[in-house]
Amino acid sequence: MRILVAYLSYSGNTEEVAERINHLLSQEGNDVDMHRIGIDPPVDAESYQYIFLGTFTWEMGATPDEVKDFVLEVGYKPENVAVFGTGDTQFGGDDLFCRAAEKLAVFYHSKWPALKIEQSPRGFQETYIEQWLEGVLGNVRSYA
Ligand SMILES: Cc1cc2nc3c(=O)[nH]c(=O)nc-3n(C[C@H](O)[C@H](O)[C@H](O)COP(=O)(O)O)c2cc1C
Repeated sequence: MRILVAYLSYSGNTEEVAERINHLLSQEGNDVDMHRIGIDPPVDAESYQYIFLGTFTWEMGATPDEVKDFVLEVGYKPENVAVFGTGDTQFGGDDLFCRAAEKLAVFYHSKWPALKIEQSPRGFQETYIEQWLEGVLGNVRSYA
């Protein structure tokens, strides 16, 4: 399967999640491309069977502009978009926690709930990534 992992990260948390997802997907034998939103040249979204889209959440639950630009650049709603995000409950508690990732999952009619990681995924939250990916990969395998 050709899979795109596109993400935006300023301070590295979302990038860590993206790299872990890349590692796990590659282990499954998938052909994974990493795309740094706002840095790398535009992608041809249609050439991927699955897109993993990662973002942090900005002020008062906002989606960063670079991610909005990426959504516009893709220009349509691909069928299989799985969304992951990092955030911090110190900024508005559970209501605003990873709100950008939640909104994107709704926007893309994602088949999976957004993965929500608090700050760095290192430590106990690594299992959240693995469990979430199991859910997504169960679907990927059935299409492989
Ligand atoms: C000014 C500011 C506002 C933030 N607002 C939110 C927010 O509303 N909800 C949330 O979950 N996290 C919020 N965060 C936390 C970041 O999303 C979190 O630190 C994230 O892991 C950063 O991702 P990155 O390391 O990939 O850049 C905010 C952080 C900053 C600096």
